[in-house]
Amino acid sequence: MQFDVFSRPLAQLPVDCLVVGIHEDGELGDEARQLDRASDGALGRLLAHGDFPGRAGESLLVPGLPKVKASRILLVGQGARAALTRRAWRKAVLTAVGALARTQVRSAALALTRPATRDLDDYHYGRAVADLTHAALYRVNDLKTGKKPKAPVLEQLKLGPVKAQGVAAVRRGLAHGVAIGLGARTMRDLANLPGNVCTPSYLADRAQEIAAKYPSVSVRVLDEEAIRKEKMGCFLAVTQGSDQPPKFIVLEHKGARARRAPVVLVGKGITFDTGGISLKDPGAMDEMKFDMSGAAAVLGALTVAAELALPLHVVALVPTCENMPSGRAIKPGDIVTSAAGMTVEILNTDAEGRLILCDALHYARRYEPEVVVDVATLTGACVIALGAHHTGVMSNDDALADDLVDSGLRADDRAWRLPLTEEYGEQLKSNFADFANVAGRDGGAITAGAFLGKFAQGLRWAHLDIAGTAYLGGAQKGSTGRPVPLLSDFLIRRAGR
Ligand code: BES
Ligand code: MN
Ligand code: ZN
Repeated sequence: MQFDVFSRPLAQLPVDCLVVGIHEDGELGDEARQLDRASDGALGRLLAHGDFPGRAGESLLVPGLPKVKASRILLVGQGARAALTRRAWRKAVLTAVGALARTQVRSAALALTRPATRDLDDYHYGRAVADLTHAALYRVNDLKTGKKPKAPVLEQLKLGPVKAQGVAAVRRGLAHGVAIGLGARTMRDLANLPGNVCTPSYLADRAQEIAAKYPSVSVRVLDEEAIRKEKMGCFLAVTQGSDQPPKFIVLEHKGARARRAPVVLVGKGITFDTGGISLKDPGAMDEMKFDMSGAAAVLGALTVAAELALPLHVVALVPTCENMPSGRAIKPGDIVTSAAGMTVEILNTDAEGRLILCDALHYARRYEPEVVVDVATLTGACVIALGAHHTGVMSNDDALADDLVDSGLRADDRAWRLPLTEEYGEQLKSNFADFANVAGRDGGAITAGAFLGKFAQGLRWAHLDIAGTAYLGGAQKGSTGRPVPLLSDFLIRRAGR
């Protein structure tokens, strides 16, 4: 997809289609009004029939107008003008691109009503359009054997209205948005794959491919023997019931002037979570193929850093394995020793994410990182707490937590901080080991965070629980690409871009 800004009047643009906003009760948006004037009132006369009331989420493709170069016009409902929030505007962009994708339109000019500048400046305008366009055009790489629907032909999108002094910022936003879209697609493609395809070895191969594509990126994959040498007893305990070999992936982006301490991202890579001996209910167990979403997200975010050549050192650590029941699997009550030397009593084999992450957090120390952020579909409790709307943030560092929450706001990929005070960690007491891997049901998202916090002492660390946000269930089942936009914004800001 090619993006740019348009500067000529709409009527003179040599594109297939013009996209304009119509507000409730047929009120024309600013750009639509300009088009109306250029066409001697033809658009207004068309709308006077009342066929298109301008409700949010609706669109209508109409044939070209007199004195207008484009051969068709896409009317997009933007709801009441006074109620035009950034969120409503985003929905209109999604509606517009979704509608264009169902046509034979190859080039279009997007001239919807923009929310007030304080809600959406030029840079974020460009970034959001590029990012949303990629999301709207995303198709699952499904394994259906029937005839595939034709791919959308849309290949060029020009944006307006932009004042001359804002053009550079919009273009910068577009470039960033394209990279974020690519990163989110990287995540979604991986997370949507079934567990029998997306194994730990498969993830390692994809990481190798990313490293081969970008000169700034290097990769190392630890196999089981190397993982044993690192004394990752908790990680090994989770993988021991599986026939798939575990992998520990280290993917690094070293941008120019990247002498600063690195940002380390850690992603949970359980390619399938049956629960192990503490077996899950069969109900929605298929969704546990998404339990490597954290891994997919950090690979996606690293791709964004590489794509934009951010002047940072970013390290993605991905412990990846399956959690399976078997005669060799760990059992409730088993005690294992983590890489950090602390012993853990595994009371519930379904609390496996924290076990693979705690060894990865220990591994992160060798980088003397500036910050460490882990990303994981860690607890059902986080879904109960925040639903599918906010990612849960837990951290031992206020400034880092604030940065992540702010990034979520800017990227429209929101996150909410949960308290991580000492009491929660105290709930992880064990009679037989340094601590247990679970506490009771109460505060389950936070006790999981507290478990990780015990391994992050002395690090500036945050934990993102994406169990509710990384994928959708039901009829829209699939990966959302979250929190790649949040992580990307976080890295872009740190790079001062
Ligand atoms: N992968 C799950 C968490 C999860 C649950 C993600 C539902 C998305 C939707 C995790 O490994 C898990 O099973 N957590 C347990 C922890 C419990 C045993 C303390 C949970 O949330 O039930
Ligand atoms: Mn589990
Ligand atoms: Zn899990």
